[in-house]
Amino acid sequence: MKSALYKAWLQYEPVQDQKLAAAYSRLLRTVVIDQELLRTTPVTAAVQELQQACESMLGFMPQFQAEITLDESYFDIRIDVSAPNILSEEGYTLVHDQQGGQEKLILTGRSGKGVLYGVFHLLRLMAAESSLTGLDVRDEPANSLRMINQWDNADGSVERGYSGQSIFYANGAFTKDLERVKDYARLLASTGVNAISINNVNVHEIETKFITAEYLPTVAGLADIFRTYGITLYLSINFAAPLHIGGVPTSDPLDNEVRAWWRQTADEIYRHIPDFGGFLVKADSEHRPGPFAYGRDHADGANMLAEALEPYGGLVIWRCFVYNCMQDWRDRSTDRARAAYDHFTPLDGRFKDNVLLQIKNGPMDFQVREPVSPLFGSMNETNQVLEFQVAQEYTGQQRHVCYLVPQWKEVLNFDTHAQGMGSEVKKIVNGSLHGMTHSGIAAVSNIGNDDNWTGHTLAQANLYGFGRLIWNPELSAETIAEEWTRLTFGNDTRVVKTVCGILMQSWPIYESYTSPLGVGWMITPHTHYGPDVDGYEYSRWGTYHFADRDGMGVDRTVATGTGYSAQYFEPNASRYDSREACPDELLLFFHHVPYAHVLQSGKPVIQHIYDTHFEGADAAAGLLEAWTSLEGMVDLGRFAQVTERLADQAEHAKHWRDVINTYFYRKSGVPDELGRTIY
Ligand code: GCU
Repeated sequence: MKSALYKAWLQYEPVQDQKLAAAYSRLLRTVVIDQELLRTTPVTAAVQELQQACESMLGFMPQFQAEITLDESYFDIRIDVSAPNILSEEGYTLVHDQQGGQEKLILTGRSGKGVLYGVFHLLRLMAAESSLTGLDVRDEPANSLRMINQWDNADGSVERGYSGQSIFYANGAFTKDLERVKDYARLLASTGVNAISINNVNVHEIETKFITAEYLPTVAGLADIFRTYGITLYLSINFAAPLHIGGVPTSDPLDNEVRAWWRQTADEIYRHIPDFGGFLVKADSEHRPGPFAYGRDHADGANMLAEALEPYGGLVIWRCFVYNCMQDWRDRSTDRARAAYDHFTPLDGRFKDNVLLQIKNGPMDFQVREPVSPLFGSMNETNQVLEFQVAQEYTGQQRHVCYLVPQWKEVLNFDTHAQGMGSEVKKIVNGSLHGMTHSGIAAVSNIGNDDNWTGHTLAQANLYGFGRLIWNPELSAETIAEEWTRLTFGNDTRVVKTVCGILMQSWPIYESYTSPLGVGWMITPHTHYGPDVDGYEYSRWGTYHFADRDGMGVDRTVATGTGYSAQYFEPNASRYDSREACPDELLLFFHHVPYAHVLQSGKPVIQHIYDTHFEGADAAAGLLEAWTSLEGMVDLGRFAQVTERLADQAEHAKHWRDVINTYFYRKSGVPDELGRTIY
């Protein structure tokens, strides 16, 4: 028996409203579908899901038949490759039609994937106990590439994983528990995700060999599972593979032997996996090998791989997380935030058509608050993919609740002004602004082999929310939170309201008791959990706050700082460059200011720090209180799991509060206006 924790948002609980249950049953008892279609992927998966859901929600198995015989109501599933009202390959319509006593629900997909997504749409409506009468849905994804990046290692560990061990590997070998992989594919497909890379971007010894005949048959087995759910498989590769495993004396991307090796490797991969997606590449970043060692640039490196994959339609997703991780903290002229833009904008126009640059949402590294990366919109002739982190590396590691959809929405809605007003990030990454061939959104996964997948049960909402948001960036964070809550915990009004309330407050709360005003970091080195204000201050990572007795923040202005603000288009550049106009929440990212500097909110910086930290810790305790008010309304397993995490968070938030407040009180000597306890 799969537990409620494990089933996540695919609970398929019996429908409570008897009238609705009867209405659903009338429509779904008979399913009309072409027999040939029934056997094709991913329609098979859609049908299985429908069967499973009907059995568990309504207590019967639908009958599948090729034609309708009687005057009864039915569910019609079809594919129409030229359906005029569905624009995209993955789109569908779901329409309710009633003539006399006969009712029909008609699902039309442009492809099997459309059918799969349409079935999940229907099941979502049923779980929320919504009426199907008069239903007239037309839906399609805004982004063509909707990808999850696993940071899983062959030894079973997960880089920045907070939910147990890998579900893909243990002890240097691939998992035998394919059932769990299949359930993961179901979860992803239900949100619309259509691509996955299955190994860490830091590719170690064993994983380097995943692209060889030794491992490809096993990799192909995983590709089969994901394909069933409309998901294409990718691998992270080691740029130095020719040298390490290929018997070639170099990995120089312009060397003929190296190029031939990659071409042969691609041939071998596609022999095993004909629809292999391509490579995800971290090169010349944090000590990973890359083209720099041979005096070549990123375009040389990416194009060499792209050439090998091109005959098969494969893609190279090349990450832009490139910066000097050996910086001298005494050197104030080097600014890590500048790095991605400085490295990649000069290469615009040089990448092949099947290369996509994957850009982290911010210029630093998935902090609770950073500006949007200025690289978005700055390359007119380069395919761009946005990278989010569903894993809560810097946002509480799934021990704190931090619903990230509101943060991601801010990124997607950010107007870069790249082509004047209305050049939002969402239009760049869906390819429309520059008319690019390939584009999309990827994210680092937050799952592991914990029973509930995500460590914190409420962190499931981030994985769900990521998929739903990138399918349709116009969905509100509240809508997604409510969908997830209903699917996960049922439809009791109090439960829905309370859980959505917790989720919606959680990101601002987490921000309020951790590092202030966009300055970032202040976390324990390496683990990235818990406060350590100076943990990275005198280190080589380029992540500083520069606090002294007078003030704090990083001067990234043009006149006196690193000039980073000029990487933005106007009017963003001037806005960020100006101490007065810069939004409060990013002030310390762009400016070094005295503690007495008065924010737009009317508060001096130092008082803002004290207030937000006291309020934030109180609010964290409030989350626990709100949740425990649901005792008896949520099953015991999940109630206890979330209670334990929220209690831990409330305690830890106090620790954050006291460390940050004490640090700045001791530095500045300025007392709290309200005289609260600071140590
Ligand atoms: C962060 C993270 C690393 C990861 C890196 C990346 O720096 O801490 O573990 O490898 O991002 O995105 O490549």
